[in-house]
Amino acid sequence: MSIDVVILAAGQGSRMKSSLPKVLHKVAGKPMVQHVIDQAKQLSNSAIHVVVGHGAAQVEAELADEGCGFYLQAEQKGTGHAVAQAVPGLRADGVTLVLYGDVPLTPASVFQSMVQTAQQGKVALLTVKLSDPTGYGRILRSAVNDVVGIVEQKDASADQLAITEVNTGIMAMPTSHLIEWLPQLSSNNAQGEYYLTDLIAMAANAGISVQAQHPESEYEVQGVNNRRQLAELERWYQLQQANRLMDAGVTLADPARIDVRGELVVGSDVEIDINFIAEGAVQIGSGVTIGPNCVIKDSVIGDNVEILANSHIAGAIVAAGCQIGPYARLRPGSDLAIGAKAGNFVEIKKAKIGEGSKVNHLTYIGDAVIGKGANIGAGTITCNYDGVNKSLTEIGDNAFIGSNSSLVAPVKVGAGATIGAGSTITSEVGDEELSVARGKQRNIAGWKRPIKKG
Ligand code: UD1
Ligand code: CA
Repeated sequence: MSIDVVILAAGQGSRMKSSLPKVLHKVAGKPMVQHVIDQAKQLSNSAIHVVVGHGAAQVEAELADEGCGFYLQAEQKGTGHAVAQAVPGLRADGVTLVLYGDVPLTPASVFQSMVQTAQQGKVALLTVKLSDPTGYGRILRSAVNDVVGIVEQKDASADQLAITEVNTGIMAMPTSHLIEWLPQLSSNNAQGEYYLTDLIAMAANAGISVQAQHPESEYEVQGVNNRRQLAELERWYQLQQANRLMDAGVTLADPARIDVRGELVVGSDVEIDINFIAEGAVQIGSGVTIGPNCVIKDSVIGDNVEILANSHIAGAIVAAGCQIGPYARLRPGSDLAIGAKAGNFVEIKKAKIGEGSKVNHLTYIGDAVIGKGANIGAGTITCNYDGVNKSLTEIGDNAFIGSNSSLVAPVKVGAGATIGAGSTITSEVGDEELSVARGKQRNIAGWKRPIKKG
């Protein structure tokens, strides 16, 4: 049966105090509405419809590649009015799930079970009990505990305000009912809005069962109205990631000081010190240790790699047994073979470092291919850029580059070659050759320093 998902994202979010539409504010590095879409896409056979209003152009631009339909709600006349905008895109023979773009962390499993309820011809409503229900719609139940309606805070009696079971806003139902009931909504209420929530009483009156379902945690249904709530959800989300990692066999120095902004896959017996940030797709093998203050983005780290403090790794492949840092920076295209080393204040970009080769101190290697067992001395620079073009530096197996050498690309240093410290190499050095390219040392005996005049 077809599943239509309607995501409400037209509200202004004025309490965010931001020029960015609320639903584009990020949790774990990803816009809130994108979280909702990603979870909704896990429902098979689903089509996604986004109702936009405030900041519509920005929201549509951000979601341009998602294959969603967009519906403009030019004036925000309530949640029922918002859903009505998407009706032309719905398939009458399926079910519709209504979600909010500012409730980012509801898991797909919750959607799945609500959709199943709707597919049985019932209405599924996600509710939660809150110690402080202020502001939310309250769930009205009959004497036999059936859900019979929702009353909004501003319309509620004193007795109704005491109800602690509240509407999360998320519901699912056969689309045919939605299409039938939406035009029957009236705005005759305290806010003069068309309330989606009034559909619940219509269902009950029509004898259609309303099944309340509940999230595992309040945070799964928490909406974001201000930046404090955004930060709260961020922390909760990150704690879930930390727990997942620890359950998978990772030791975390402090579960409150790791942030996962993307997909992090980790092997066993990995130790991660404080202030670790993983971004994008990061894969870490087994037996890896990561020192404090490291950032790894879109990279693959092999088994038993040791990453020391304050290292930044992005778009890199680091094979088993490598040692990185402290204070190393591996930029996109860095490809380190087994047992290679990139030490302190070393920057590597678009370069292959062969098996067991060492780049230990204060060095820039960019656009280079280095063979096995090479030793790149402190302060070596590959001069890869002439201001217009980038050129390649090739260094053979077991080459030894003396400290403070400049290798002016394009240039080749042969296997087993040795470069004298302080050399500026501009032309090819053959295998096993020694090349020294620097001013020859002169010692002047008896030289007198200048004397201050007058
Ligand atoms: C709504 C529910 C309330 C529930 C609460 C949960 C109604 C009438 N009330 O409250 O029972 O407890 O959510 O947070 O549905 N939106 C639009 N267009 C509109 C109005 C809203 O797109 O015209 C969007 C908002 O951007 C937001 C969502 O719908 O994502 C909910 O709107 P909001 O105003 O926060 O909900 P309330 O009406 O306060
Ligand atoms: Ca709200």
